[in-house]
Amino acid sequence: MTATATDTNRVQRKFRWIKLFKPAVFIVCLLPVVAAVAGVANNSVGPNPVEALLHSSGEWGLRFLLLTLSVTPLQMIFKWGTIAKFRRMFGLYAFFYALLHLTIWIVLDQGADYAAAFSEIVEKKYITVGIFVVLGMLPLAVTSNRWAIRRLGVRWKSLHRLIYPLSVLAILHFLWQVRANDVMEPAAYLVFLTVLLIWRFARVAGK
Ligand code: HEM
Repeated sequence: MTATATDTNRVQRKFRWIKLFKPAVFIVCLLPVVAAVAGVANNSVGPNPVEALLHSSGEWGLRFLLLTLSVTPLQMIFKWGTIAKFRRMFGLYAFFYALLHLTIWIVLDQGADYAAAFSEIVEKKYITVGIFVVLGMLPLAVTSNRWAIRRLGVRWKSLHRLIYPLSVLAILHFLWQVRANDVMEPAAYLVFLTVLLIWRFARVAGK
């Protein structure tokens, strides 16, 4: 067999593997929802199930945002090209968990009282920032398809760079609502994001 034919076979095998693996990754990304619902059903999430659902959905939204941002460094540092095939899925999951978080807040926490929810958005700066993040993620989610990439051309990349400031704001949202003795977790996310941003700027500066 010629070298080109071997290469083609290798690429075909890789694509077949990714095709098989994608549904599995999709299901794994849904497991936090299953775990949260099971926890509420089993009464194992503590005295306030709404708060537990709110916290879990918010944390997973943030984790998927950071995972999406980690794709390029993982791809470059470990020469792991396959991970790039999952970037869109991770980004859309970040949006899914953020929307779920918003829905839980409006429907279960605020009792679908939209006027009360609106006053909270205006009065509490961490909620204002949260809304800002969800609204900012909307155009990214809507344009996460081949058609939009083709239509927007170079503007697509600029638009999707919004993910960096949105991640900073999502961590600010977390930091602004925790008690002083609970800052360790949001601080850890902030350190992780700072490392990703330094890596990104170093790469841009080195070009
Ligand atoms: C749509 C706007 C949003 C609203 C109204 C909102 C509201 C809330 C509320 C009420 C809490 C719980 C506060 C408490 O326990 O006292 C919370 C926590 C949190 N939210 Fe949001 N949020 C929004 C958007 C977001 C987004 C976009 C993200 C990240 C992608 C996010 C991530 C988090 C995290 C990580 C927590 C802390 C969870 C924990 O304590 O373990 N939120 N949010």
